[in-house]
This record gives sequence, C-alpha cells and structure tokens, in this order.
Amino acid sequence: MDKPRILSGMRPTGQLHLGHLVGALDNWVPLQDQYDCFYCIVDWHALTTHYDDTHEIQGYILDNAIDWLAAGLDPKRSAIFIQSGVVEHAELHLLLSMIAPLGWLERVPTYKEQMEQITGHDLHTYGFLGYPLLQAADILIYKAAAVPVGEDQVAHIELTREIARRFNHFYGPVLKEPQALLTKVPRLPGTDGRKMSKSYNNAIALGDRPEKIKETIKTMVTDPARVRRHDPGNPDVCPVGDYHKVFSGPETLAWVDQGCRSAGIGCIECKMKLFDNLQKRLEPISARRQELESHKDDVSDILQEGARKAKAAAGETMAEVRKAMRI
Ligand code: TRP
Ligand code: SF4
Repeated sequence: MDKPRILSGMRPTGQLHLGHLVGALDNWVPLQDQYDCFYCIVDWHALTTHYDDTHEIQGYILDNAIDWLAAGLDPKRSAIFIQSGVVEHAELHLLLSMIAPLGWLERVPTYKEQMEQITGHDLHTYGFLGYPLLQAADILIYKAAAVPVGEDQVAHIELTREIARRFNHFYGPVLKEPQALLTKVPRLPGTDGRKMSKSYNNAIALGDRPEKIKETIKTMVTDPARVRRHDPGNPDVCPVGDYHKVFSGPETLAWVDQGCRSAGIGCIECKMKLFDNLQKRLEPISARRQELESHKDDVSDILQEGARKAKAAAGETMAEVRKAMRI
C-alpha cells in the first residue's frame, strides 16, 4: 500500500450530531480516496473524563460506529476500530510516558481550558493529564503521515511531533512526525446559538427522527432583532441562517437573505425550508443507519476486522519500538 496513512479518532461519549457530521465525517469520507485510513473510536479517551460513570460508553461505541458507516466510512478501504481492541496503544502510551516531560503536558492549552470548563468530573487525575500523550500513541503507533483534525487539536498534534522527536533522539529514528491535516469546519452553532454540545442540549443528533428534528428547528433561536413578523432581520447573526449556509443551495440562500432583510419571509417559513433541506441531506444517512441498526452483528464484525488490520500495523511499530528501547 503506497498511499500515505492517516489516523483520526472520536470519543464515544454521546450520540453524534450535526457538528460531528460537518466538522469531521464529511471530511473523513473523501479522504478515503487518497489515504490509507485508520479511524478509531477512542474509548480509553472517553474514560479520561467519564471514569466515574462508564456504563454508557459501550452503547455509544456501537452507536457512533453505526453513524460513521451511515455517513460513508467504508470498511473495505478504512480500518474502523475501537482503541481498546488494539492494546498496543496502551503499551506505547506507557513507554512514551517515561520520556514525556510533565511540563509539556501541563502546558498543553486544552489541559487548563478543559479543567476549567468541564464541571461535574474531577479531572485532577493522571489519566486526564496524559490525554494528549495517549493521543500521541494512537497516532505514532501507525506512523501516520497526517491527522485530519480541527483547529482545536493542533496543540495535540504538535505535542505528538515533539514526543516523536524526543523518542527518536534517545533511541534512534523509529517514529514518524505527523502533520495536522486541517480540515475546513463550517460554522455550525447549537440550536440556541451557543457552541453545539450534547451537554447544552442544543444539538441535532444524526439518529434523531424527522419529527424530532422538525420540533427542534421550530425552537431554534433567531435574530433577536426580528421580534415581530414585519421587523427585518439579518441571517448572518441568526443560527438558522448559519444552518442554511451549510445545508441549503445558492437559490435558497438568496431567498433567505433577501426575505429576511426585507421582512418578506417569516422565521417559521425560513425554518421549514431549512428542515426540508436538512432532511434531504440526512435521509440517506438515516436510511443506512436504520439498516445497520438491524444488523448490529455486522457492525461488530466490521470493528473486529478493523482491529485486526490495525493490530497488524501497530504490532510492526511496537516490535521496532521495543527493539530500539531494548525492552
Ligand atoms: N482528542 C481528539 C478529540 O477530542 C480525539 C482523539 C483521540 C484523536 N485520539 C486521536 C484525534 C488521534 C485524532 C487522532 O477530537
Ligand atoms: Fe433567521 Fe430566517 Fe428568521 Fe432571518 S428569517 S431571522 S434567517 S430564521
């Protein structure tokens, strides 16, 4: 296989929503044409924040895998697998922990940020500090050339590169420094205008039924300047307008822009148009999702097969790592 290799991952901590679709999956799917892809459901990373309540992780693993496949990840071309199914990640993480300076981990910007933002979990743990090092192990174990991620993960990729360099400095050139493959992520706020997040209850899940999606869209926040039907608005400051920009074509966009600014259309009308267009996008995904839900054994088989392929690649690197470290 001479295609360059990439790896990316997602934490199974909830149902996937539109943010995951347009922010990750829509980018991951076409990458399958150009790269040897490894897509990993990182359940150990889920434990770094959800260690005190693990009963939901198993369900989310299968649910997320179904969404991945429904959105177009193709097990014939990509290794789709669960992190804990390839225990080599843990071994590399352990070995890397020996050479990872604490200061490097403490200075990763997401560490302090998340510590402040995530309430309800005590994150003063060894596992949470080591989160980006475990991520480095995920990537380095496949000698991935690139990692498709959003802007928020760049610091983790930089740490991964530094760790690879440090390893190679001590033990010889084994690990490969990966590039961040920055994927374009359209602006898609939550339905209330805040950041889309399951914990804010402002997300549309990929598995939501059309009736539920319609209800959610009806309650979406709009431009606050449009108090009454005849008040003109601005789709650039309206979450519904943001969604149209992602899910509607140029004709509808012109209709929204003109109609909103002139108070020629009402918000309900505008939202129902969005619902129609969003449905067009989600329908095929939802159909595949339903099909896969009635064949969960096949999904488990796909994950097993992905783990087998991943284990073979990870095993090769680990043999080199152990030899280089004389362990
Ligand atoms: N930290 C990533 C996120 O929150 C998830 C992740 C874990 C990951 N391991 C990875 C992403 C390896 C890319 C490569 O999105
Ligand atoms: Fe938002 Fe549409 Fe209402 Fe304008 S018409 S404020 S874009 S919902």
